Amino acid sequence: MLESCLDYCRARSENGWAKAVADCPAIADLRRLMERRVPPVVTDYFLGGAGEEQTLKDNVEAFQRVRFNPHYGVKCDSVNMRTEVLGHEISLPVIAAPVGSLRTLWPRGEAVAAAAIGKSGTICTLSTLTGTRLEEVKSATQGPCWFQLYLVGGKEVALKSIERAKAAGYHALVLTIDTPVAGLRFRDQRNGSAELLNGKLWPKIRFAPQMIRRLSWLMSFYSDGGLMDFPNIELPGGQPMPYADIGQQLQQSAVTWEDLFWIKEAWGGPFVIKGIHNVHDARLAAEHGAKAIVVSNHGGRQLDRVLPTLHILKAVAPAMKDLDVEVLMDGGIRSGADVVIALASGAKAVLVGRPYAYGLGAGGEGGVLRAFTILREGIEHTMRQLGCAAIEQLNESHLVAYPFGQ
Ligand code: GLV
Repeated sequence: MLESCLDYCRARSENGWAKAVADCPAIADLRRLMERRVPPVVTDYFLGGAGEEQTLKDNVEAFQRVRFNPHYGVKCDSVNMRTEVLGHEISLPVIAAPVGSLRTLWPRGEAVAAAAIGKSGTICTLSTLTGTRLEEVKSATQGPCWFQLYLVGGKEVALKSIERAKAAGYHALVLTIDTPVAGLRFRDQRNGSAELLNGKLWPKIRFAPQMIRRLSWLMSFYSDGGLMDFPNIELPGGQPMPYADIGQQLQQSAVTWEDLFWIKEAWGGPFVIKGIHNVHDARLAAEHGAKAIVVSNHGGRQLDRVLPTLHILKAVAPAMKDLDVEVLMDGGIRSGADVVIALASGAKAVLVGRPYAYGLGAGGEGGVLRAFTILREGIEHTMRQLGCAAIEQLNESHLVAYPFGQ
């Protein structure tokens, strides 16, 4: 009786949040809503970056400092934003980036997000460090899926994940190269999330005030089984890797150029290299057979004070023109206007992580759908203002340098 009463309350409150996302005009509103629903000890993981978070801020600011050069007096009633990435036709040039631990934001978070991503007409990339089985995530979406592989647990464990991803119908493998050590996440250290993961009750008492103010999240989290394991990292005995400190998991999990040989052989399909910071590595990725690269600094979560990705993209994209490699980018994208800037600066499409994670935390599937709708409408609005009817026509002439501070 008590259980069904609690279930009823939980479902009512989840429905309430799912409705609230409809009023969010921008990604920043989804973020604020997520922060009202989900406790800070959880949201810090999604909001935060490495070190003093300089790169996290720079990624966003690099977009904010660009100005548009519209061509008016042109009839532009509709915009064609369909494009093809690794042979998939997608309805907007925005792909869902791999994001760890989505299940801490919403019950069955990865599967719920995948359903919304598929309905939004684009590709879902599942991170290794997630709480829902990759098979369940794949069958939750009608769209294509990529699997992002970390070498957590070693080669044999990774081979098992590759085999499962292949059998489940994942199309491409995304290999992240920028995690030779875990990022220094001061926010997570300051907020004491390690104590939350610790089995003892007493240290957890400090989280009571923030949890009590977010009962709706608490009910959903416990009805979903509480702290998840990592079912996509199957240890030699077959059991999933337990959820310890995620930073520790990332340690030594980067893929090296040497690893690519056995990974490629085991996978046998297209692969993407993510974490490209310069032309040297971009061309090396091409030489190793990557079909696409992602110019990415891991959303400012790995090495603080590297360049913002928009800046890197402008150097890398022209240097890849003669090669058969698709150039993608992520980092700092919070609006459709940002997507347009990335495309005009040479990206074929972009990946977004935080925008849809905020949507998921704010309102589950409806929140993720809302995030992609905000981006789609923003792209359409910007393109029509620019007088540009198709994304492949975007180029540097649509942007203009503005001498800030002079
Ligand atoms: C995982 O990739 C993370 O950045 O925490």
